[in-house]
Amino acid sequence: MAVQVRVICSSEDVVESGPGYRFSVDRYGRETPAFVIRFRGKVHAYLNECGHVPAQLDWQRGEFFDDSKLYLICSVHGALYAPETGRCLGGRCQGIGLKPLPVKETDGQIFLEYETDNG
Ligand code: FES
Repeated sequence: MAVQVRVICSSEDVVESGPGYRFSVDRYGRETPAFVIRFRGKVHAYLNECGHVPAQLDWQRGEFFDDSKLYLICSVHGALYAPETGRCLGGRCQGIGLKPLPVKETDGQIFLEYETDNG
């Protein structure tokens, strides 16, 4: 396995506790929706799939935070997640958190780190 990186977006595209940036990842040969948000200055990325059923969370395109701006909320039945870990905090996710994706922010850009068989 080799670790590779690819650019997701510019740092400016992801504002503190505001709209996230949607992207997709190849997961088992399938394009899978994902998103990155910023919370308390750090970026965090997850698959865009609720722990309840694999529905996308955003209540409007790119909107993942609830009104308090402290939690991520699923638009379908209101499950709440911790922005910094994706942990299920309440609602129908019933302990099943979001699936995190490794990201890093360098030189004004946000990168996804992923493993490939090559290398
Ligand atoms: S699909 Fe997200 S809480 Fe039900």
